[in-house]
Amino acid sequence: MARILGICGSLRKGSYNALLLRAYVDSAPPDTVIESANIHEIPPYNEDVRQVGFPAAVGRLRDQIQSADALLIVTPEYNYSIPGVLKNAIDWASRPPYQPFNEKPIAITGASPSMLGSGRAQYDLRRCFVYLNAFVLNQPEVMLAKAHERFDKHGKLTHQGSQKLIVEQLEALGAFIKRVRPSG
Ligand SMILES: Cc1cc2nc3c(=O)[nH]c(=O)nc-3n(C[C@H](O)[C@H](O)[C@H](O)COP(=O)(O)O)c2cc1C
Repeated sequence: MARILGICGSLRKGSYNALLLRAYVDSAPPDTVIESANIHEIPPYNEDVRQVGFPAAVGRLRDQIQSADALLIVTPEYNYSIPGVLKNAIDWASRPPYQPFNEKPIAITGASPSMLGSGRAQYDLRRCFVYLNAFVLNQPEVMLAKAHERFDKHGKLTHQGSQKLIVEQLEALGAFIKRVRPSG
C-alpha cells in the first residue's frame, strides 16, 4: 500500500486546489491512499520560535511528511509564484534536526482560473525541492487551467482531459515510488 500525503496550498473554503486534491483522492488506485495535511494552524516562520521547539502543527506536518511514501503538492499561483502559506509550511517543515523532504518522491499539481494553471508556481516549487534534495516526478505535468469552469456544483471535476492526466500522474507516481524506494 502506498501512502501519499496531499498538501494543498490554499486555505480558502471554496478552493479549486482543494477540489483538485479531492479529485486525486477519488482517483487513487486501490493500492494507494492519499491523506490530506492540514497547514491552517502553521504560524509564520520564526527562527526564534524554532529554537525553542516546533509548533504542534509543524511537528505533525513533519511527522506526516517523514512517514509518507510520497507527497502530492497541490498549489495555486500567487503573483506568478508559490503562495506564502505553502512556502511557509515547506520552510518550517524543512528545518533541522532531520529534513523530511530529503529523497522524498513528490508529484506537483495545481489549478488556477488563468490559462496557465499555476505552472509558474509549480516550477518555483521544483526549484525549492532541488535544494531540499527531493525527487520530483517530471511527467506528466498537471496544470488545471480555467479552474472556475472545471468543477460541477458538487465540486466534482468535469474536465475529462484533466481527469485522465490525474490518473496518469498517480500511476507514474506509484511507479516512481517503487523505483526510488524499492524496499519501501
Ligand atoms: C495574492 C494573489 C495573487 C494571485 N496571483 C495569481 C497569479 O499570479 N497567477 C494566477 O493564475 N492566478 C493568480 N491569482 C488568482 C488565483 O489563481 C485564484 O484566486 C485561485 O482561485 C486561487 O486558488 P484556490 O481557488 O485554490 O484558492 C492570485 C490570487 C491572489 C489572492
